Amino acid sequence: MSLHQLVYLSQSTRKLDKEELAAIWAQAKANNARIDVTGSLFYNGGWFMQVLEGPAPTLASLYATISKDPRHHDLRLLYNEPADFRTFVRWTMNMTNLEERQADKYQELIDIVEAAKTGRKIFGVSAAVTLLNTFKS
Ligand SMILES: Cc1cc2nc3c(=O)[nH]c(=O)nc-3n(C[C@H](O)[C@H](O)[C@H](O)COP(=O)(O)O)c2cc1C
Repeated sequence: MSLHQLVYLSQSTRKLDKEELAAIWAQAKANNARIDVTGSLFYNGGWFMQVLEGPAPTLASLYATISKDPRHHDLRLLYNEPADFRTFVRWTMNMTNLEERQADKYQELIDIVEAAKTGRKIFGVSAAVTLLNTFKS
């Protein structure tokens, strides 16, 4: 089954608190484990940036489901390409709330989300590709 990676950016409908983010995270982890999807979700200043990895047809239907979720809107698909390997092998969904803690790679991640918002490239590379490269082992 062909592996794909998808990255999108969206805006939360309103400012979400810790509990609401935790609920999204729990739901994502439980579902993704069942459908062989891995990835990572970043939240900062009312913006989500999410990487999803898995079989192409699964990602297409998951993205359609996520797009309809009323907790966010204005989804922008930034990247949707075949991949040889998963970047977030160990995560059915990782979650980084950049408002909560100074995560590893904090400044890079803030810059990536900012770049994605305006479509700015980082050293000539799109924000989505920079995000994937940041976590490649
Ligand atoms: C920012 C964001 C990211 C999400 N990520 C995922 C995800 O990775 N996997 C998933 O199954 N649902 C995710 N969801 C939730 C889905 O939109 C939807 O509510 C869920 O898949 C429905 O699951 P259920 O049928 O078990 O209730 C996300 C929602 C939001 C707002």
